[in-house]
Amino acid sequence: MRLIIDTDTAGDDAFSLLIALSRPEVTLEMITICHGNIGIDQCVENALYTVEAAGQSGKVPVYRGSALPLMVKPLDAVYVFGRDGMSDANFPKARQRAEPGHAVDAMVDLVMRNPGEITILAQAPLTNLALAVAKQPGFAKAVKHLWIMGDTDNAIGNVTSAAEFNFYCDPEAAKMVFAAGFTISMVTWTRTMEDGLITDEELGTIAKMGTPIGDFFTTVNRIPADFARTRQRKPGSLHPDALTCACMVDPAMILEAVDCVVDIETVGTLTRGYSAVSSPILPDAEDADPDLVAQAPNVRMIKRADRALFARIMTDALR
Ligand code: BDR
Ligand code: CA
Repeated sequence: MRLIIDTDTAGDDAFSLLIALSRPEVTLEMITICHGNIGIDQCVENALYTVEAAGQSGKVPVYRGSALPLMVKPLDAVYVFGRDGMSDANFPKARQRAEPGHAVDAMVDLVMRNPGEITILAQAPLTNLALAVAKQPGFAKAVKHLWIMGDTDNAIGNVTSAAEFNFYCDPEAAKMVFAAGFTISMVTWTRTMEDGLITDEELGTIAKMGTPIGDFFTTVNRIPADFARTRQRKPGSLHPDALTCACMVDPAMILEAVDCVVDIETVGTLTRGYSAVSSPILPDAEDADPDLVAQAPNVRMIKRADRALFARIMTDALR
């Protein structure tokens, strides 16, 4: 698989990178950085450090991308990941530096030179992807497959009761991306709360392995794990981005998936960033309201994933 990961690298974003970097069937051709979890320059540093921690310094180019959302004020998630996004580990600067040039240009260039070849894993607000769509007509169709970590499956979010962080941070960008004609698979926060858990016992196993990369995981996971235990009341830590990466690299992860129509709310005062996901238990659009227009599915929604296999994939990446 030829892959681009678009990421606001902090905490679990780094673990998703580690899974991709550990898989022989994946060629991670570039990492593109978007605003999100923390300031974009720190996201760039965290991605560079993660590549180095994985022993692949200099092998994967890292590009700085959009520093702001399209229309709304920028947010961060320092309260989940710590001030540096890495549980305040304050790692030294990596040897590798970011490439010159903008992430959106680099992404568009790679995809358009290799139509139908490149898979993208989008695990940040969708600003870079939306700008790529705006910049290059044909970009969406030239991408082989777009995996998106974001939002919910008609359930509670992790920022508001309606929206998850990546979509709440840039709802207009998300709306553009879902209307652009990509082939999309989507892993939501709803799935993460069930299938993206690494239990305290499994975290203990990783800590006991004592490998350098396992210790990196344990260090970076400290503050988000505490947040998951105290605020989200989970017996372990939650891994939205790593779960999405695991579903992408190993089809055995996917226990159930359904083709759906997904569109993003951008104007609701209480529901900005909400993904409306179609369901077979709803009536046909034309029966319910003549003003509703029936649409073709635009997303393969992951409805159930294999949590135990996910924990094994994550652990194996840390050996
Ligand atoms: C998502 O938002 C970010 O905080 C995480 O990196 C993940 O991509 C979870 O809501
Ligand atoms: Ca992320």
